[in-house]
Parts: sequence; structure tokens; C-alpha cells
Amino acid sequence: MENKKPIGIIGAMAVEVKELIAHMEESGREEIAGLVFHRGILDGVDCVVAQCSPGKVNSAVCAQIMISTYHPRLVINIGVAGGVGVGIGDLVIASALVQHDFDSTPLGDPLGNITICRGEGEESFIMLESDKQAAAVLLEEAGSIYGGAHMGVIATGDTFVADREKNRWLGATFGAKAVEMEGASTAQACYMNGVPFAVLRAISDNANDDSPVDFPTFARESADKSARLLARALPRL
Ligand code: ADE
Repeated sequence: MENKKPIGIIGAMAVEVKELIAHMEESGREEIAGLVFHRGILDGVDCVVAQCSPGKVNSAVCAQIMISTYHPRLVINIGVAGGVGVGIGDLVIASALVQHDFDSTPLGDPLGNITICRGEGEESFIMLESDKQAAAVLLEEAGSIYGGAHMGVIATGDTFVADREKNRWLGATFGAKAVEMEGASTAQACYMNGVPFAVLRAISDNANDDSPVDFPTFARESADKSARLLARALPRL
């Protein structure tokens, strides 16, 4: 029997999800905590799509509600990102996600170290790995429609990075290829619930001094690229 659980899709900004929602054969929508969850069929695949607004808390809340309410078999965070050593318009598929602004180093922890509850105990991690099969499918489809994509670490924080030195630091410290504001927090919510996740981003700016101009210039084009790739990959996910 076919798996009836939907694929969950989360984007922060309207521009990142509106084309997908427009193309969906929508069977229903529900508002929870101010977030609108669109249920329906996209390219023949049962999906639930939501816009979460930017940031780690917004995305984690959205992912948790989506998981608790719709029980997705996979959650994919899509949209745009700042490039770290990759160009505007390039696609980056996360191999792993890190929260670059999580800092309890004064207590002796490594930078980016997150501790979560596991029943009566606790567990710590720095990176969370994406679902390997979903990442591989996205990479393969990117190869066939866009001539390829980068696969690597995506760094997430509650900061719009527009600084060359911070950009360099993200690459040197975490091996990041892109920086954004929702991927690792979505991943954490998924991980805590045992739900596989993937993050797909298209670069809208170089996370440097030019970003305040580049981001509004390229966000739409890059967001469309990310959504088109996802739509193409969905039947294989
Ligand atoms: N999303 C797109 N560009 C970004 C940047 N430079 N920093 C954080 N998130 C982003």
C-alpha cells in the first residue's frame, strides 16, 4: 500500500512558497498559531505546505505543529540563502545543518553545541545530518535541470549575514556553503520527533556588504529556482 503520509514543505517568506501553493490541487487549509497549513497534491504527491516567517523560533514552531498535526514522512525546508564561497543563483543542498549562533563556549562547550532532552536524559550535537536519500534525489534532479548543485553544510542563525569577515568565519569554522535563518532549527524540530528532513536553498546574495542590495534583487528568482527543483524532485521523494 502506498505511504499516505504527506511531505511537509516549509519556507520562511511568501516568495519561497507561493508558487508551490498556487500550483497545488488544494484539498484544505488550516490556520494554527497564525500559520496557514495548505494540504493538497503537488505533482501527484500528497503535501502540506506552510510559510513560517524568518528565524529559528518561527521555523521550529511551524515544523513542530506540522509534525504533530499532519505527521509528514519527510519535511523539506526550501528557499534562499546567503552564499559562502558559492555564487548567486547556485543551489545548495544541505548534507548537515548547524546553528552558528548557538554559543555556550564560556561553559566549556564547543561552538554550536545543542543539548536536547531525551526522556530523563539528555543528548548533545553540533551538526544534524539531512536525510541522505532525499538529499541525493535533490542533487540528481538539480543535475538534470540546472546542471548541478553544491552539497554541504548549511549554517543557520537569527542574523541576516551581510559581512565579509562573518562569511569567511562561517566557512572556516563550520565548512558552511550557505547561511540562512531556518534550516537547522527546522532540522532540530524534525530530529526531536524522529522525522527525516532535507534543506534546499538557492543563493540570493553573497552574505557580504552587497547583500542589502543583492537580496531584494535576486530573492524572487532564486526562490523560484529552489521551488522548481523541489517540484521536480517530489515524485521521487
Ligand atoms: N537568507 C538569504 N540571504 C541571507 C543572508 N545573507 N543571511 C541570512 N539569511 C539569508
